[in-house]
Amino acid sequence: MKKVGIIGVGEYLPKKVLTNADLEKMVDTSDEWIITRTGIKQRHIAAKEEATSDLAGEAAKEALRDAGVKASDIGLIVVATITPDMQFPSTAAILQEIIGAGNAACFDVSAACSGFVYALSVAHHYVALGTCRNVLIVGAEKLSSITDWTDRNTCVLFGDGAGAAVVSEVKSGGILSTYLGTDGSRVNLLNLPAGGSRMPASKDTVDARLHYLKMQGNELFKIAVNSMTEAAQKVLEQAGLKFTDVDLIIPHQANSRIIMAVAKKLGITEDKIYLNIERCGNMSSASTATALCEAVKEGRVKRGDIILLDTFGAGLVWGACVLKW
Ligand code: ACO
Repeated sequence: MKKVGIIGVGEYLPKKVLTNADLEKMVDTSDEWIITRTGIKQRHIAAKEEATSDLAGEAAKEALRDAGVKASDIGLIVVATITPDMQFPSTAAILQEIIGAGNAACFDVSAACSGFVYALSVAHHYVALGTCRNVLIVGAEKLSSITDWTDRNTCVLFGDGAGAAVVSEVKSGGILSTYLGTDGSRVNLLNLPAGGSRMPASKDTVDARLHYLKMQGNELFKIAVNSMTEAAQKVLEQAGLKFTDVDLIIPHQANSRIIMAVAKKLGITEDKIYLNIERCGNMSSASTATALCEAVKEGRVKRGDIILLDTFGAGLVWGACVLKW
């Protein structure tokens, strides 16, 4: 098996910024409630004409430049998203055309907020087995398109964005271990009810606002803390590492209180956690992807560092990955 790692990263955040003050004018909420309950101050919102593949395209181009890899040298594109441009074809196929990666096979993965780690795990296997030399993975979301802007329980949480990485063979380090899991018995806690085969779109589903994301946040909170804690423990154990070996944790950015509760359980200090939730909100699969990119650009990730990605989302799914940069 070849050693596999990330050789380039990129991100894109839409220009429009929606602040908590803006939301105060839309629903019955306050800047104080949003900050203390979630840690979010603002989020980016894509333009009407921007689709998920457009956000993915910008992030992907930056990742290819960063990696020094031509689009034509990508053998596989995996896009992690819960807000595809269309039900089908895959957003990965649409992205292929945008970036000119005509030699790539393309598909999407649906693993909500853990999607980027799931895509990384897929890429790892394709490269390790020699099936592909370079895999482009992207976490991209236009969550504003499935957000009910009249529901204060959810609309303050989410934002749009995309992060990308090029995954290839590396001489040393790279992905040390990955741990993925799913609990399909709790699908009811977070989903988008209509528009699929169980409840096709109709006037009734539109009238009942069933094409928007529904979440029982309170119930998810404790499960998120426990799942992310367990995933971090398991993935490090698999890699033969301890928490003291970790230089930086890049967690899914659903709620800063969830992240701090996980850190407390694991005995990890705040200086070892990378956060972009304050600026970006929860961008599902794009959260970990953009946070990784930003951490690299800001010099928070140095060669030889041990990085832990730790995620949780709808499914319910969880996924963690340890990398030596
Ligand atoms: N502004 C003001 N008040 C609000 C708001 C708001 N925006 N939203 C809810 N409230 C109120 C509620 O109505 C409730 O009022 P009540 O006590 O009078 O009934 C009160 O605040 C408390 O509501 P809770 O839901 O208990 O608030 P909580 O502290 O749990 O915070 C939150 C809610 C932020 C959603 C939190 O539960 C959370 O982060 N949950 C986890 C989310 C998660 O991890 N999801 C999975 C990943 S996301 C993905 O996969 C796409």
